[in-house]
Amino acid sequence: MRDANPQTIYLKDYTVPEYLIHNVALNFILDDEDTLVRSRLTLSRNPASYSPNKSLILLGENLKLLGVNLDGKDLAKDQYLQTQDALIVNNVPQQQRFELTIENTINPKANTALEGLYLSNGMLCTQCEAEGFRKITYFLDRPDVMTSFTTTLVGDKDRYPVLLSNGNKVAQGELPNNRHWVTWEDPFNKPCYLFALVAGQLECIADRFTTQSGREIDLQIFVEKHDIDKCDHAMQSLKNAMRWDEQVYGREYDLDLYMIVAVSHFNMGAMENKGLNVFNTKFVLARPDTATDSDYEHIEGVIGHEYFHNWTGNRITCRDWFQLSLKEGFTVFRDQEFTGDRTSRAVKRIEDVNMLRTRQFAEDAGPLAHPIRPDAYIEINNFYTLTVYEKGAEVVRMVHTLLGAEGFRKGSDLYFERYDGQAVTCDDFVSAMEAANDIDLRQFRRWYSQAGTPVLTVRQHYDASAQTLALTIKQSCPPTPGQAVKESLHIPVTMGLLNKDGSAALCKLEGSDRASDEVILQLTQSEQTFVFEGLAEQPVVSILRGFSAPVKLVMDRSLDELAFLLSHDSDTFNRWEAGQQLAGQIIAGLIADVQNGRELHVNPVMVDAFRQVLEQPWDDLSYFSLLLGLPSETYLGDQMEVVDVEAIHTASEFVMRALAEELESQFFALYQANHKDESGKFDAGAIGRRRIKNICLSYLGKLENINVQRLAQQQFNTAKNMTDQMAALAVIANNPHPAKQRCLDSFYRQWQEEALVIDKWFALQASSHMPGTFETVKALMQHPAFDLKNPNRVRSLVGAFSQSNPLHFHAANGQGYQFLADQIIALNTLNPQIASRMVGALTSWRRYDESRQALMKAQLERIISTEAISKDVYEVASKSLARQD
Ligand code: TRP
Ligand code: ZN
Repeated sequence: MRDANPQTIYLKDYTVPEYLIHNVALNFILDDEDTLVRSRLTLSRNPASYSPNKSLILLGENLKLLGVNLDGKDLAKDQYLQTQDALIVNNVPQQQRFELTIENTINPKANTALEGLYLSNGMLCTQCEAEGFRKITYFLDRPDVMTSFTTTLVGDKDRYPVLLSNGNKVAQGELPNNRHWVTWEDPFNKPCYLFALVAGQLECIADRFTTQSGREIDLQIFVEKHDIDKCDHAMQSLKNAMRWDEQVYGREYDLDLYMIVAVSHFNMGAMENKGLNVFNTKFVLARPDTATDSDYEHIEGVIGHEYFHNWTGNRITCRDWFQLSLKEGFTVFRDQEFTGDRTSRAVKRIEDVNMLRTRQFAEDAGPLAHPIRPDAYIEINNFYTLTVYEKGAEVVRMVHTLLGAEGFRKGSDLYFERYDGQAVTCDDFVSAMEAANDIDLRQFRRWYSQAGTPVLTVRQHYDASAQTLALTIKQSCPPTPGQAVKESLHIPVTMGLLNKDGSAALCKLEGSDRASDEVILQLTQSEQTFVFEGLAEQPVVSILRGFSAPVKLVMDRSLDELAFLLSHDSDTFNRWEAGQQLAGQIIAGLIADVQNGRELHVNPVMVDAFRQVLEQPWDDLSYFSLLLGLPSETYLGDQMEVVDVEAIHTASEFVMRALAEELESQFFALYQANHKDESGKFDAGAIGRRRIKNICLSYLGKLENINVQRLAQQQFNTAKNMTDQMAALAVIANNPHPAKQRCLDSFYRQWQEEALVIDKWFALQASSHMPGTFETVKALMQHPAFDLKNPNRVRSLVGAFSQSNPLHFHAANGQGYQFLADQIIALNTLNPQIASRMVGALTSWRRYDESRQALMKAQLERIISTEAISKDVYEVASKSLARQD
């Protein structure tokens, strides 16, 4: 182990920095293997610090220190101390400013962790969030130390023709020996995690944006030469995001230049470095024939996300890393709304909730559960979680629901005005919302400190003589590690009532003189009863509309009631949800039948519900296609006491096939009606047609019928866009199709030059439920195109197999677990962040049967005993194994 006893950092220990940095001048002499960094810092004692410690402690890791100079004098070796992770300078001035110059070297080529300065396919780039800057030079590497950066890059003209950093280019020149230099100046103070540099052989597309106040902004996207034809969509997305932030939040861009660089080796999605975003190629590059409709949508979403960070993250940043959700939760909420406005609100909300419920709820119910503002961590990189991001966004959404759009805007205006240029806390955000709206959010703040998914249990009582409906809602929250007792939360519950004919019944709460189609109940106690008056007949309740809070709902519903809501609810989310619950209940019954060896029959209520949906006319075809989707196998597993991957898979396949048999003609007609040649069209209409057509194909694919096989093959052969090609290939590869191997091979040959398409090829095979998948995955590990040093490849093979293939990953003999542990152990030394992410698939071991539990646990123990284990992997593996009581 790197550190025999990895240290835990606590929020309660926060103290202000002992020193402040007024400005920094960085100078890089670039070299792939030996980059020289000179940093000149102007510092002074922080008057707000009461710390008795007088030494200056700068953080740094893996640095080769060449020299330290204080106010013009070179320091002797006994005037400073270099430790594993710090440089301690003893006698620094306490009363006035002083200048410290540090020289060190680093080796970007040896950096496979992709944090700090590293090489991505021959291009030098940086990743500093959260604590990567300390791998570049010694610094006060914490987000509440903000300063102005001037950066000079020097390098060989052929090797590094393009030299980029944050802010504006202020000077450049030539040097002897074929070298050149560029100086960048960022006028905005920022923490070092927002620093970036990029150097290499890059091509660029340029455009312009005129802000609402009439300023002209230069926009540039840099990529490898080969990808220059795949940048247009990203550029358009950027302009859309800039306009949207002006219109919805009144926020304008501040620098004169906005640059995006796409790199192939990247640990996450993208990074919001000031004026110089660095992106995973996956979230930039798109051409109709290489990217699917959902890729197009995700690109726009991530471009928006990073752009929106300029205000929520950069201008106003986090005081410490426990406040990460301050910028991430808010920014995810902003990007969700942006995508909702650009595409289909209904569809975007359902996709987000689906993800939250299958993945974040599992995190919140497992051994790594933590509040959106955690109070302790070993390795901060492990806290870029679904909880901090997605649940954090839900918490901001609830504020939006409680205040209304106008009140929320007043709150965000005040937030930007009050805290611009500062490093603040989640509490400051809530305070601004409170102050602008004259509302008390004291109880609401518990969402920031309490982990676990609350459960709402709803009972209803209709009194025919009084014409009232009483809704009793109980809230509870299961214990999570370190939090046995939970307090009641302030939960907004949006709801409506439906008459028997499907029309809206008025909601009029007892004691209120207002009646409306929809109300927001304010749940604050452990149990509360809401009485609705003036209801001549018993209404059907539509509750938690739009998924107004990140909770689990328990409510007895008959299949008929669910079918009724599926056809009549005016709330698009609840309408879809009713269908999911209907299917979920029926499949749960089938799972029990499989487990008990009973013959399987599909309930006619389900077939009728599907038939009704299929026979209605729909405007929003994307939404329509979601109504035809079944709950995922992962979601079905979450509903079970003990997850039985085999029974779930058998039941799900059975239902799909049964629906395909019963409704073959409808699926076929719908396929034909929407199968058009409109490649390259990305309007909602064309996207919706592809989506509905391809879901029909996925049902028809279950029929093992020669006509359907031909249909899939034909679509595969003639597709002109990746959406259609991939959908056809998925149907071919996931069913006993005679041309399966031939199609996979031809796909590879066609796309071998396009890394992102080859990622899809790996992922598709890794997530196949066909027999022999494990052997395929092992063989693919040896494929010349596989590379453990490329995170996208690892995610597409190891990640897809362990996270998207429950059936094969959880094979009863434990081979899937052992395989995953092997890869984690190999990745632990290469890239701890990616290794630690991969451990996630073993974390939920308590959810499986005893035999699988033992096998998974054994692999976690094997991982933990890895020599030189990283803090990243150690934290996740040890917390996964920790006793839960
Ligand atoms: N701030 C980035 C985002 O949300 C996240 C990120 C990108 C990141 N790269 C990282 C976090 C590396 C930790 C490590 O957009
Ligand atoms: Zn972010």
